[in-house]
Amino acid sequence: MPSYVVTGSSRGIGLQFVRQLSANTDNIVFGVVRNLGGASELKKLETDRANVHVLQADVTDYQALKAAADQVAQLTGGTLEYLINNAAYQQTERKYYTIDTYAEKGEIEELKKDMLDNFNANTIGVIHSIDAFLPLLKAASAKATVKIISLSSGIGDLDLTLESRLDLGPAYCISKAALNMVVAKYATRFADDNMVFVALSPGLVNTATGPPTPEDIEQYQAFGKSLKAAYPDWDGQALTPEASVRLQLGVIEKVERKDTGAFISHWGNKQWV
Ligand SMILES: NC(=O)c1ccc[n+]([C@@H]2O[C@H](COP(=O)([O-])OP(=O)(O)OC[C@H]3O[C@@H](n4cnc5c(N)ncnc54)[C@H](OP(=O)(O)O)[C@@H]3O)[C@@H](O)[C@H]2O)c1
Repeated sequence: MPSYVVTGSSRGIGLQFVRQLSANTDNIVFGVVRNLGGASELKKLETDRANVHVLQADVTDYQALKAAADQVAQLTGGTLEYLINNAAYQQTERKYYTIDTYAEKGEIEELKKDMLDNFNANTIGVIHSIDAFLPLLKAASAKATVKIISLSSGIGDLDLTLESRLDLGPAYCISKAALNMVVAKYATRFADDNMVFVALSPGLVNTATGPPTPEDIEQYQAFGKSLKAAYPDWDGQALTPEASVRLQLGVIEKVERKDTGAFISHWGNKQWV
């Protein structure tokens, strides 16, 4: 029975991973959330499907992740085949600043806060998650190739950034670019083991939980224009979580040991939208 852990599965892409993976009753799927109170859809899935289990852990809390790993081990006999590091911090304030806006406005403390908040969850949080589940992954790797998939972002890609002149959201983009190196470090550390580490971008996906503000619409249009410069054939539409996760699961199924350390998209290549 292949086992999957998905972090940050209260909503958006994480919830969709749990939904699609648990549709196959051969799988056992653990949805990890930081706040059980905000995970009603996931809790409903747990009620409806015997192969879904909901656990609580904030990815910035290593001890909580260890406790979650212990709970998974009890149900799987000490193994885990797939870890999907999906949780990520999304800034609500200052998300449309460029890298020099903070200094321009004299907001040096805000710069540090945004950098650290993004780094803590999106970069160190993934290291914590991998380390917490590593004993289970290693145990499973004796019998099968285990896969550790970390959700990155095309806007953490240097070439895309330069080509399309995407200058917004520096803290998030930097945390995702650093995440790609985290994945490369684990890939090299465990290059001789039966493990595949991949940084996977889900594409541009509409996971909004409320209506966009006028500023959101304006910035989205500017962002779309930048992306169009890099991808003239792109239709300008965000993917649904359903479509993105379906494509990502196809990529996850295909990646093998020769791919370890790669940073790829939902298309399995460097096409980010
Ligand atoms: N959507 C896109 O277009 C897009 C594009 C590129 C990359 N990505 C990446 O894809 C992944 C999923 O994106 P999404 O759009 O589904 O994000 P989302 O809708 O913002 O959901 C983020 C999830 O992460 C959880 N989370 C946040 N901080 C956490 C923490 N410290 N510990 C545990 N869980 C935490 C949230 O929990 P709460 O409900 O408690 O807040 C939520 O479940 C992220 O890694 C994101 O960076 C998304």
